[in-house]
Amino acid sequence: MADKDVLILAIESSCDETAAAVVKNGREVLSNVISSQIALHTLYGGVVPEIASRKHIEKINQVIESALSEAGVGLNDITAVGVTYGPGLVGALLVGVAEAKAISYARKLPLIGVHHIEGHISANYIENEDLEPPFLCLVVSGGHTHLVRVLDYGKYEILGRTRDDAAGEAFDKVARAIGLGYPGGPKIEKASQNGNPEAIVFPQAKIRDHPYDFSFSGVKSAVLNYINGCRMKNQEIVPEDIAASFQKAVVDVLIAHTMHAAQETGMRRLAIAGGVASNGVLRSGMRAACERRGIDFYHPSPILCTDNAAMIGAAAYYEYLAGTRHGWDLNAVPNLRLGER
Ligand code: KG4
Ligand code: ZN
Repeated sequence: MADKDVLILAIESSCDETAAAVVKNGREVLSNVISSQIALHTLYGGVVPEIASRKHIEKINQVIESALSEAGVGLNDITAVGVTYGPGLVGALLVGVAEAKAISYARKLPLIGVHHIEGHISANYIENEDLEPPFLCLVVSGGHTHLVRVLDYGKYEILGRTRDDAAGEAFDKVARAIGLGYPGGPKIEKASQNGNPEAIVFPQAKIRDHPYDFSFSGVKSAVLNYINGCRMKNQEIVPEDIAASFQKAVVDVLIAHTMHAAQETGMRRLAIAGGVASNGVLRSGMRAACERRGIDFYHPSPILCTDNAAMIGAAAYYEYLAGTRHGWDLNAVPNLRLGER
């Protein structure tokens, strides 16, 4: 390890993954350990916040220990500790924040609180050496749907956001309605491979005077109404067709709004991020739309799309370079806004 190398120990616990990673100079992942609670929450059809907090507290030390040993480093080699401090589930966030504070206090290491969405966006830096701001980023996760102009490292302008459900949330709710279970996104994607995306036309909402905003509660209700209608008429329900048609409605609107923003802002680079960015239909559709317009398209690999700590390490590195340091009063901020300190 060269003297000037910056090694970030990153911690992420905002939802249902307990994760720790060691990231060198922002873009080289030395380890990325994720302990998923998905199997546990599947029993309840979604994330149960108190269970999430309890699991985080149980797992966090082991996850950090594994991240250090897989990276082949000790706490002595670490330059700074980065941690997600919002947005997310408060009890879940508190576990990671308290852990990061304890380590930075004991080792006298700089403490850097990271915005979860900044982490998702920064996942793109890891495998794309040439990607640098400015670029446009569509962030689509279980809790967020944001169209963001990344002006510089750590500097963001939010062009559009969802007015109601996040894209991933819509996938999860529709999956539950058609009996696929949690988490909905991957299950809808799999089911849709045997379905016809043209079978049912679901609505694609536009918000008047806000061309970059999204709304997914309408399409979710339309799916529920369609299912009820079929039941009342004793018509067969084909979950694969519903999955494929719903996925098309969501993906089409994500691509349309993003391309509109790319055109209006003149951005030549576009990235996608967040759990839904691992969706194959979204990725191929966005790539094709970018190619048609000569826009360079970037996306993280699936493991870096869903919640992980490597993305927090990448974001923390650029915050570290910018001089961001949090004090002993760092707290979890469940509704933290992007760009706030
Ligand atoms: O980014 P993430 O792991 O957590 C949040 O920050 O919310 O995103 C999780 C969301 C879930 O709603 C999940 O259903 C969705 O991402 N997701 C997908 C896919 N994989 C995960 N949605 C569509 N297609 C997928 N392949
Ligand atoms: Zn996330």
